[in-house]
Parts: sequence; C-alpha cells; structure tokens
Amino acid sequence: MARGLEPAASAPGAGERPWTDDAVVYEIYPRSFQDSDGDGIGDLAGIRSRLPYLEWLGVDAIWLAPIYPSPLADYGYDVTDHKAIAPEIGTDQDFDLLVADAHDRGIRIVLDLVVSHTSIEHPWFRERPDFYVWSDGPEPPNNWLASFGGPSWTRDPATGRLYLHSFYPEQPDLDWRNPEVREAMADVVRHWVGRGADGFRVDAVDRMVKDAELRDDPPAREPFPLPMPEALLRRDLVNSRDAPDIGIALAALREAAGRAPLIGEVYLPVARVLPYLEHLDAVFGFDLLHAEWDADALAAAIDRSSAAGGIAWVTSNHDFPRVATRWGEENARAAAVLLLTLGGAAFVYQGEELGMVDGPAADPVRDRYGRDACRRPMQWDPTPSGGFSRGDPWLSPVDPATRNADDQSADPGSILNLFRELIGVRREIHGTPARIGSPDGTLAFDRGAHRVAINLGGSPAVVPAPAGSELVLCTAPGAAELHEGELRIGAHAAAVTCER
Ligand code: NOJ
Repeated sequence: MARGLEPAASAPGAGERPWTDDAVVYEIYPRSFQDSDGDGIGDLAGIRSRLPYLEWLGVDAIWLAPIYPSPLADYGYDVTDHKAIAPEIGTDQDFDLLVADAHDRGIRIVLDLVVSHTSIEHPWFRERPDFYVWSDGPEPPNNWLASFGGPSWTRDPATGRLYLHSFYPEQPDLDWRNPEVREAMADVVRHWVGRGADGFRVDAVDRMVKDAELRDDPPAREPFPLPMPEALLRRDLVNSRDAPDIGIALAALREAAGRAPLIGEVYLPVARVLPYLEHLDAVFGFDLLHAEWDADALAAAIDRSSAAGGIAWVTSNHDFPRVATRWGEENARAAAVLLLTLGGAAFVYQGEELGMVDGPAADPVRDRYGRDACRRPMQWDPTPSGGFSRGDPWLSPVDPATRNADDQSADPGSILNLFRELIGVRREIHGTPARIGSPDGTLAFDRGAHRVAINLGGSPAVVPAPAGSELVLCTAPGAAELHEGELRIGAHAAAVTCER
C-alpha cells in the first residue's frame, strides 16, 4: 500500500525535529539514474519510473543532484537558471508528476541548491555584475586557490576585470554580502518550496561567505584532515572560505525555506561545522566518509561527528570513489551496516545498494576533475546497457552483467536485500550510539537495546553480547552467530543484535 505523505500544511510545528532527522535519503545523480527517452541521459521521467523500486527499498526521500539548465562545465553545478529544469532532464510537468507520485508513495523530494556560485553563462554575470566578487587591480588581490586547481581569480575578457571563483573559472562566486543576492536566492528557495520540494541539500556552504577584506590565506599551521589538492593543503583556508559571519547568508536561506530542512555540504572537518548548524538542520559528516577502513579511525570519526550533533551520515556521493572501491568490495556490506545504524540522517548514493564499484576513467573525459568513475549509470538489469538507456549512454555502465538490481532483488542473500532489511530494521533502533569496548579490528556500539558490531578485518572476531540477545541481522547468511554471550562475526562481516 502506498505510504502517502501528509500535505505540507501539516509539517512539523516549531520546536519539532525536522523530518530528515532519522531519514534515509537516497542520492540520485539524475543524468546517470534512468533514461526514459533514449538520448543516453537520465531524466525526471526515468526517475519517476523507478519510484516503485525506491519505495520497495524503503527510502524516505530522494535528493536530486542539480536538475537545472547548465552548460555542464561542472555537470550541473554551474547553473544558468535556478528556477528552471534542464531540457535534457525534463519539463516542469515531469517535475510535478515526479513530486506527486513520490509523495503518494511517502517519498520526499530534496533538491540541490547551488548557491555559492552560478555558471558564467548565467544572465546575472553580465546583467548584475554587482552580484559577483571582482577585483580591478592588475594582479589578483590575494593568494586564494580554486578547489579544482589554479588561482581563484580569472580575468573576464569582456571587462578586463578579475572575478572570483572557488571552483572552475566557469563558476563565478556570488557575493553573499550583497543583500540583493540573498533576496534572489531566497526567491529561488521559495519557488521550489512552492513547487513541492520537501528539503534542500545546500552546495558548497563554506564558500558562500569569504573574508570581507580579501586577505591572504596564511600558510597551514596543522594538516587539513580531508582530501584536497596539494597546493590547498599548504594553506590555512581561513579567509578564502568559512567566514565567521556566514550566518548572514544562512539566515536568508533559513527564512526562505521555512520548515523545509536544509542539509549543508560544508567541506570542513567536523570540528569546524558548529557555526553552520546554527542555521542548517544538518551537515554532511565528511570525517567519516574520508576515514580509513580501520576500527580506530572510524571510531574517532564517529565520536567527533556525534559530539558535533546534527551530522548527516554519508559514505559516498557523486564526488568521491564509491565505498566498494575505497574501502574494498569485501567491506561494502559491513559499511552499509555502519551507515544505516548510526542514527541521524543517512544518505545513500545510488548504486551503493548494489555494491557498485567505480568504473575506469571515461573516454572522452566528461568531468575534468576526474569524477566520471563514480558517476557511471545505475545498473538495473544484466543487459549491456544495464537497463539505463536504450540509446548511447553519456557514460557507459561498469559491470551490469554481474551486478544489477533485477538479479539482486531476487536473491535474498544480496547486498541489495541487506540494504532493504537494514532500512526496515533501523526504524526499530533508537537511542544515541554509545561505543563499547571491543577487540582490536572491530567496532561496536549500543543504541538502546540494540548492539551493532562490525568486524573490519580478514579473520573472524568475537564481540561480547548481553545475555538474552538475539541476532537481528547480519551481512550475509551465516556471517555471524550468537553463542553463550558471544557474538562471533566472520571476516569483513557485521551484525546487529537486540536484547529482549
Ligand atoms: C560540491 C558538489 O558536490 C560538486 O559536485 C561540485 O563540483 C562542487 N560542490 C561545486 O559546486
């Protein structure tokens, strides 16, 4: 039976927690999810056709990576019209139908708000130069570096002035100190709330506001713990991003969004996210995503993140190598247990539920920063196209013959069915995670009566289990067993138990 959502009017009242708090949000990279018209590019109608799958999987919401018109310098993160839908992705009507159908099934819609910058082809860049950050000197005014390499300042041939860009030169940064920029983006947020969006993932939040005096970034005093190009690691990135008055920008988004949750992509170690949580409902926990597959490293990342509060857990997305590629295919199931039992929002990137791996670099290269490998199409069936498109796909699938949703849904022992079971079981798990002591190479925590135990290593391990515990699930048939107060877990396996 369709789950059906309450209409927006009955959204939670003030003081109540946002719906994202314990939600499973499934990230869809629209171009690579499902093509409906044979042009080789995924689209909204394709997403809609796969809603029954998402409902079966049990997700609470889908996050659509940008669906707006874009010249694709950064594959959708360079937007030319924040209120429109890219023609290759669909029409306004496709969007309305998707929202209505998703809501009927109890699935909410999270849109991507790309607010820190626009495409250089956005009409604002010529019509409203005051919306951007410029410098008139012969040389760049500071030493700031763009995240994708090179200086953050590029000369505009039309005016001879330098403009600021935190990412590609085709993505000029907006000046959020300008109240008219804030109002223009608030208008975008209100537009999509009016069209049925239930929440927003906010892109590159830490770049929205920079030092007002454009001072240099000083040399690094301590290692930055998240991956970054080498040249940026040599700097202490305190002026080119993460300004102390970020609240001026976030308050504008918050007010426009009303009760719709805002999840921020703040690419900072979790120790620096607190100012963002004053206005956002949650921020992604990149400490966990980038931790080594090592019990101590994961435990430390989880502890730091839990202490911050408001962390949305995420272990992969369209920017970084997939879990099976980064942490090892043998660990993909245990990683799923970790992601889905930590409590708080959990973001699942499309294809992770199939244990998908990265593909080889694409030819021709699509993303200049090397992210094509993790953006290859979703694998629905064993045919060469993986059921993604009846045309020539913009990126080819990796290995649909051996990894696809059709085969895995029919196999009770598949990783897909493990994800589905986990999403069901997590609804019964309550309470803050409390880590417990466990042997080297294992990670274990309690949440209320439930215990989650993960064996990261290649040999079997034993984790204590309270008397009267029952096995709720494990990563594969026979991967764990309870025996007289002991939970025996096979190599690379994980289990959830419950004290009755
Ligand atoms: C983060 C997005 O996830 C990434 O794909 C994009 O390139 C940058 N922000 C810039 O918008």
